[in-house]
Amino acid sequence: MRRQFTVATIPGDGIGPEVVDAAIPAIERAAALCDATLTWERLPYGADHYLVTGETLPDHAFEHLRDDVDATLVGALGDPRVPGNEHARDILLGLRFRLDLYVNYRPCRLLHPDLCPLRAGPGGPRDIDFVIFRENTEGIYLGRGSARHVGTPQEEVIAEEVHTAQRVGRILRAAFGWAEAHGRTTVTMSDKSNAVPAHQLWQRLFDEIGGEYPGIQREHRYVDALAMELVRAPERFQVIVTNNLFGDILSDLGAELVGGLGLAASANLHPGRAGLFEPVHGSAPNLAGKGVANPMATVLSGSLMLEQLGLDEAGAALQRAVRAALDEGVTTTDLGGSASTAEVGRWITDAIA
Ligand code: NAD
Ligand code: IPM
Ligand code: MN
Repeated sequence: MRRQFTVATIPGDGIGPEVVDAAIPAIERAAALCDATLTWERLPYGADHYLVTGETLPDHAFEHLRDDVDATLVGALGDPRVPGNEHARDILLGLRFRLDLYVNYRPCRLLHPDLCPLRAGPGGPRDIDFVIFRENTEGIYLGRGSARHVGTPQEEVIAEEVHTAQRVGRILRAAFGWAEAHGRTTVTMSDKSNAVPAHQLWQRLFDEIGGEYPGIQREHRYVDALAMELVRAPERFQVIVTNNLFGDILSDLGAELVGGLGLAASANLHPGRAGLFEPVHGSAPNLAGKGVANPMATVLSGSLMLEQLGLDEAGAALQRAVRAALDEGVTTTDLGGSASTAEVGRWITDAIA
């Protein structure tokens, strides 16, 4: 049976368009392995569009992404010409919030032993394979708060952090449910409840909801200690669930443990709805326009997208092709190679079988 999917892309800013352009042919070829056809729609939203039109993400585009497409692939958003980052917040955070994509799924898996910056552990080469479940719809990211006496020494800015039982509960369930379905035995919840009393809600719900998953052990780490332990013994973690801000920070740390931002993929999900897939990295203005950005994070985000569309074999084929490129040393400079963004994309595309 031939299957047809519509995928929107928002290549965005900086290296976003370069990595998306390099990844699309590979994603398409992998989909074809499963007899699936992808129809791509390229949307113009990003800093250029904002600076010319004043528009960030218009309602009709939001409704289109909500109602008419099977998935959205984002490159990156962020541009030095928009120092307040308002367009990126509207587009990226806006889509996460308004589509209620409450699971930000960020796998950290070591695809080649040489990519780990840590010395070998006591048990030999590192074997890192954990997933971060980042709450994606609230926390401090809601941007609630106030400012007064602006521009005076008395200036006071207040940022409110919001945690609701229903939303904390559903991300915890997503983490436990995923662990159970994927044969993992431990879920680690991270907060800072020793300093931020509001985080005790996470502790309470973690115990309550965790009790519904008798096969899964629960462990808790304050986020400072978790950052330490992720560097000391990353192989001991399987599933980490945490709030929006801590998930953001820990996912860059996790990325670096397995080769860096050039390899880190993510999926923004709400079961039953179209998801949004994007590399963890940003627009890397220092690299933009040079053809040197690593497209693998976008290819691997495409792999998560294909799996979400039910094309598991296609997703696996993309991962195999990325591993093959790593094995062969066909990489951009961030991983020690000398290939360009486009060359890595082409090599991966040709390797798909
Ligand atoms: P960044 O992720 O863009 O870059 C951090 C570092 O990683 C830089 O040294 C960069 O060169 C390197 N890097 C990132 N992606 C790479 C790739 N594909 N290949 C090789 N090296 C790569 O983070 P930043 O510098 O803090 O932010 C730059 C802009 O991107 C800001 O405007 C920020 O808000 C935005 N941002 C957007 C997203 C997103 O769209 N999802 C994510 C993070 C940051
Ligand atoms: C990410 C990014 C975004 C975030 C920024 C660009 C708002 O860092 O996707 O990790 O903080 O979520
Ligand atoms: Mn981030």
